Amino acid sequence: MPGRYLVTAALPYANGPLHVGHAIGAYIPADVYCRFLRLRGEDVLYICGSDEHGTPISVTADKEGITPQQVVDKYHAIMVKSFTDLGVKFDNFSRTTKKIHYKLSQDFFLKILEKGFIYEKTVERPYCSQCKRFLPDRYVKGVCPKCEAKDQRGDQCEKCGKQLEPHELIEPYCSICRNRPEQKATKHWFFKLSSFEQPLADWINGNSEREISGNLPSNARNFALGWIKEGLQDRAITRDISWGIPVPLKGAEGKVLYVWFDAPIGYISSTMEWAEKQGRPDEWKKFWASKDSRVVHFIGKDNIPFHIVIWPAVLMAQGEFNLPWQVASNEFLNLEGEKMSTSRGWVLWLQDAIDGLGADPLRYYLISTAPESHDSDFSLSEMQNKVNSELIGTLGNFINRVLTFIQEKNGGIVPKPGKFDAEDEKLVEVLKKIPESVGNPIEKFRMSSALASLIGVAQQGNIYFQNKEPWKKENNNTLFLCANLARNLAIAMAPFLPFSAEKTWSMLNLEGSVHEQKWENSGVLALEAGHKINKIATLYVKMEDDKVKEFEKKFLSKKKTEASEVKNMPEIDYEEFKKMDLRVGLIKEVKQHPNADKLLVLQVDLGPLGTRQLVGGIRNYPMESLPGRRIIVIANLKPAKIRGVESQGMLLAADEDGSPVLLTTDKNTKPGAKIL
Ligand code: MF3
Ligand code: ZN
Repeated sequence: MPGRYLVTAALPYANGPLHVGHAIGAYIPADVYCRFLRLRGEDVLYICGSDEHGTPISVTADKEGITPQQVVDKYHAIMVKSFTDLGVKFDNFSRTTKKIHYKLSQDFFLKILEKGFIYEKTVERPYCSQCKRFLPDRYVKGVCPKCEAKDQRGDQCEKCGKQLEPHELIEPYCSICRNRPEQKATKHWFFKLSSFEQPLADWINGNSEREISGNLPSNARNFALGWIKEGLQDRAITRDISWGIPVPLKGAEGKVLYVWFDAPIGYISSTMEWAEKQGRPDEWKKFWASKDSRVVHFIGKDNIPFHIVIWPAVLMAQGEFNLPWQVASNEFLNLEGEKMSTSRGWVLWLQDAIDGLGADPLRYYLISTAPESHDSDFSLSEMQNKVNSELIGTLGNFINRVLTFIQEKNGGIVPKPGKFDAEDEKLVEVLKKIPESVGNPIEKFRMSSALASLIGVAQQGNIYFQNKEPWKKENNNTLFLCANLARNLAIAMAPFLPFSAEKTWSMLNLEGSVHEQKWENSGVLALEAGHKINKIATLYVKMEDDKVKEFEKKFLSKKKTEASEVKNMPEIDYEEFKKMDLRVGLIKEVKQHPNADKLLVLQVDLGPLGTRQLVGGIRNYPMESLPGRRIIVIANLKPAKIRGVESQGMLLAADEDGSPVLLTTDKNTKPGAKIL
């Protein structure tokens, strides 16, 4: 019996365009999963929508000088276009500003209130007297009480992942005017998260009778169990801001639901909207309120606390809907070795990547480097290598070579095979196993190994074709088997590479769409002798150096030079390293360089080597803070005049975004001590 799956990807905030990290964090893997399930004949819905409430939206509105409504209208449209261009195909992509969502969220609130899991309480919350408003979530910043990271927002610490309430921040400041807020009394509604410690632990450990729970990935599981062990605190689920869903109670005027309360409910309201569009308004129940349906969420790791603790607890409190069966949680994607950051401008926007690199090649590379169990890295040169050698050199090459050969040498006709020899049989075995070799890892949410298996199959095909040398003497078996393998690869490609899979399907001159085939049929010999294939077209365009350079210059120039410098440093051997005489130096005296504002002149004690004069660009350190410090010096560097002053060596410093940070010793080491 086919299963039923309701698959979601985290509703993206409509406060900016998506970047490649978002794409591989949730939307692409969920798309692969859904396309695969659909081919397997399961009943599956892929549901998403834009997350349009909360301070992420209103802060952006303040910054761009437009209304929150204008912000969400603008970015909703931009995101929809990127998803379409990337081949991420939702059954419904809704918006949390829709009426249907308002109603369901308010109903959730009232139902949980009625069941006694929401209560009212007057509490003190940060208030900015200058901006004349309360400072929830992203309006307030300060030091994280758990890991002491600075400048963290009032809802969640980006460093350690801790869930925060705005008043918990140490040394809070208003993120708009930097004023220190006062604490002011205000009424809020709290969700009794504390009541769900045991039920959550049972559910996470798979001991719950009420629901099926798949095996949560260990990153998600460990985080959640750790948090539960610390003890779950009740949490305010209302906010003093104007942008959001009104709290549906008398006496709650001016208060809205916390965005993280309403957003996940969007998974359900978007499904309801889908059902309405189908003209079968009750159809959503099959997916959300029926025992035989599995709810699968795809999220990035920053969303783990909400999906593995808060959201399931809200569902338990509400009581009418299925709990998640699986929460596939991805780690982060770095960019050229560095953490992506929109504020520092170090991002690769999804639309730029699709337009410049092509949807399928981009999907290919992102899936192959998916941050499934640890952070991974987007590197343009690695993408170029992988696309050229694997996607094009292996997969595309097999399909194009075989089909071109049949077209040119056999009039486009798939020949009738004779008796298979041992090598033929070996290929038949590989072909028969495709549904499992590629499908099993997808089922286990290991998309990158599934893709590697697919390439492995194409590679076997290439080797077989090469060994058989059908250009030397006629070989019907080889052409017959390779044509079949090309067809099967098209089906197996479909979840990952939806556009080129369809193109292959039409080159093969097969009926309908590749996306309507049966997954099992990627393991059978279904292409019959006598079948005539279509004209051949190129599947992919090679990533040439000049195009890649151009792309890099346009979108990745910032910092890229620095990163590649590091990577391209030639290796040296120990002998060369040993030539450097590195020593601990004790700073004695410091003066301003007479001819250069940014330079200092230091007298440094090097013990047995005597006192040296060094010129260093460390003007970012207050002069009076330097004497008495220990630094590391290259003592045998040829003396040189720097702007007229002799420097007899060089001090070492780390470069942090252009400002030097002195290297020093762990203990008060003797001046002149050698660095080994
Ligand atoms: N908008 C959130 C983010 O981008 C994700 C919301 S997921 C949902 O981090 F569960 F709330 F829908
Ligand atoms: Zn302020």
